[in-house]
Amino acid sequence: MNFKELIEARYSVRAYSDREVEDEKLALVLEAARLAPTAANRQPFRVVVVRDAEARQAMSEAYSRKWFYTAPVIIAVCGVAGESWVRSDHTNYNLADCAIVMDHIIMQARDLGLGSCWIADFKPEPVRRILELPPGIEPVLLTPLGYATDEPRSKRRKATGDLVYWESMAIEANES
Ligand SMILES: Cc1cc2nc3c(=O)[nH]c(=O)nc-3n(C[C@H](O)[C@H](O)[C@H](O)COP(=O)(O)O)c2cc1C
Repeated sequence: MNFKELIEARYSVRAYSDREVEDEKLALVLEAARLAPTAANRQPFRVVVVRDAEARQAMSEAYSRKWFYTAPVIIAVCGVAGESWVRSDHTNYNLADCAIVMDHIIMQARDLGLGSCWIADFKPEPVRRILELPPGIEPVLLTPLGYATDEPRSKRRKATGDLVYWESMAIEANES
């Protein structure tokens, strides 16, 4: 699969088989996270891998979709905002860094034949408690990881002209 094919093949998997994720594949996914770029190379993130069945069941309190907590692995990307690069206007880039880490995880997973799904709509408090996150470390994104049992859907996306502008966002410039 080349990179364009990989991008097209990735989709949000919301049904997983019981098949375990091989240790070697999980190691490659975690290595992709480690190699992710971060602002000023601060690496202000921690990744928590949840494989234990009881812990995954407990995670249902944070996000109750069965396909999420019954997947063989759950990965949490946690931000350490206090370690992040902060722009001169005080914008903290922690969320951007964590998103890049998760994207590396998700794309590497797909390349290995594994499904995943970005999850932001979870309750953070149970995640902090279940994963015993120390103060200053916040859960930012979760994903289940495993083998898909559903099928890819066609991608519904805005047209390029609605998303990409050249030189200026003035309407006349984009229409010419
Ligand atoms: C930052 C982010 C947060 C998301 N949170 C959720 C979520 O909480 N639950 C969910 O089912 N999907 C979630 N998604 C998946 C999106 O709904 C999905 O990526 C989008 O609809 C496009 O579909 P596709 O991933 O199949 O291409 C999230 C995606 C992103 C990028």
